[in-house]
Amino acid sequence: MDLAQSASGLALGLFMWGHMFFVSTILISKDAMWAVTKFFEGYFFFGTAYPGVVSAVVAGVLVLVMVHAFLAMRKFPANYRQYRAFTGHRALMGHEDTTLWWWQFLTGFALFFLAAVHLYQMLMHPGDIGPYGSADRVWSGRWWPIYLVMLFAVELHGGIGLYRLCVKWGWFEGKDPAASRKRLKTAKWALTVFFLVLGLATLGAYMKIGYEHRDLVGERHTPSWVVPDPKEKAP
Ligand code: HEM
Repeated sequence: MDLAQSASGLALGLFMWGHMFFVSTILISKDAMWAVTKFFEGYFFFGTAYPGVVSAVVAGVLVLVMVHAFLAMRKFPANYRQYRAFTGHRALMGHEDTTLWWWQFLTGFALFFLAAVHLYQMLMHPGDIGPYGSADRVWSGRWWPIYLVMLFAVELHGGIGLYRLCVKWGWFEGKDPAASRKRLKTAKWALTVFFLVLGLATLGAYMKIGYEHRDLVGERHTPSWVVPDPKEKAP
């Protein structure tokens, strides 16, 4: 079960890195984010977009999140005595890795709820992803508060998780484990800060576009070089 938890955690961690790069293409341009969205809808393969392809991917990620969360619950303090024992030891020892585990527990618990809402939206309305579709949701749909909290929760949880995987399975250990653990921790914090800054800039961009587009909610963005797809229904 530990192996399954590590494998599902690794897959989700790497997925989140990809996910953040895809949604942050809005920082390049609306056309760039449109192209990435249409790519995942199969537009460049089939000549028309099939948002159902994204729903299938979301369903796969949802199952992975549920398996990972179920396996992780084994590590939660099972009763008040265990909880008190853990918090007491943590405060007493002041051991950084133990505190990191505590943050991973808290952010994991938060993601039970935050990720579920987001994934259900993406599962049921994959066709509403796009420069204006996403920006309208983030601003006029008032999704930005949940994205702001979820951004910190997932980047902390994923960053700590990948670091703990390396320590747990001895990856990158080298001849001097203590030195490589120090390097791993520095890499972990550098990646966490990088993805938080990228995520905040991305969220800011969707909020700005959404605010400027607030009187035209529902209008789709189509790049000037694309002939609109007559089959694509307006929302
Ligand atoms: C295949 C599954 C997923 C898809 C298709 C997806 C799609 C998207 C899209 C299109 C956005 C841009 C905003 C919007 O359109 O509402 C977004 C934002 C976001 N998603 Fe996902 N997502 C997926 C899974 C996840 C998971 C599992 C998590 C975390 C547990 C997550 C966390 C976030 C966060 C934090 C943002 C805000 C990013 C930012 O602006 O900084 N997503 N997602």
